[in-house]
Amino acid sequence: MSIPKRIAVLLSGRGSNFQSLLKASHADLLGGNISLVVANRPGAGGLDIAQNAGIETALIDHQTYASRGAFDRDLAAAIETVSPDLVVLAGFMRILTPDFVARFENRLMNIHPSLLPLYPGLNTHQRALDNGDSHAGATVHYVNGELDGGPPVLQARVAVGEDDSAETLAAKVLAVEHQIYPEAVNWHLTGRLSFEDGVLHKDRQPVPLTGYLWDGNE
Ligand code: GRF
Repeated sequence: MSIPKRIAVLLSGRGSNFQSLLKASHADLLGGNISLVVANRPGAGGLDIAQNAGIETALIDHQTYASRGAFDRDLAAAIETVSPDLVVLAGFMRILTPDFVARFENRLMNIHPSLLPLYPGLNTHQRALDNGDSHAGATVHYVNGELDGGPPVLQARVAVGEDDSAETLAAKVLAVEHQIYPEAVNWHLTGRLSFEDGVLHKDRQPVPLTGYLWDGNE
């Protein structure tokens, strides 16, 4: 029997994406187990979810560090204790240093609540509304040195309704986030994603530039 794949999750808040990954893992749909959850904020709801599920947790409070580099070094050391096959950012609200990103190159994933390359950064839903976009959505992508800029893996779209506010749109998008993150993590852990000459492939085919479009919601 092969050794189960291991995932480390980094989060800062309520942890609903982590919870969707946990659910998928319990249903044997993830291709691996969540071995560690690290939060950078005391009181992050995701820590409680992890502890209740019997998952190892660590709190590395960035406010107790004098520099981003020192924080990232301790963060990396904590992650290395479980030798993860994949590090998953699930609402982790910290910009990571280039050294950290290089250390986990091609095994560091994020979910961002917009149709990247549209709206990297914050306030994505309000920006989509302000621009009168017909659709909003979420993107799972590998992380590189640019903010929300690494290669997209999987994207989900939702229609923007006339009455949508940033809050209602966020809720619609969050619902599809919970669908696509476990799927993309499964693709990684089951070896379906690879980088060939720096280009992301799935099942040996180049992945479209904005990632695959998830078709479960339209
Ligand atoms: C999600 O909207 C995710 O896309 C963004 O941060 C939020 C985290 O929510 N990166 P949760 O903590 O997973 O509920």
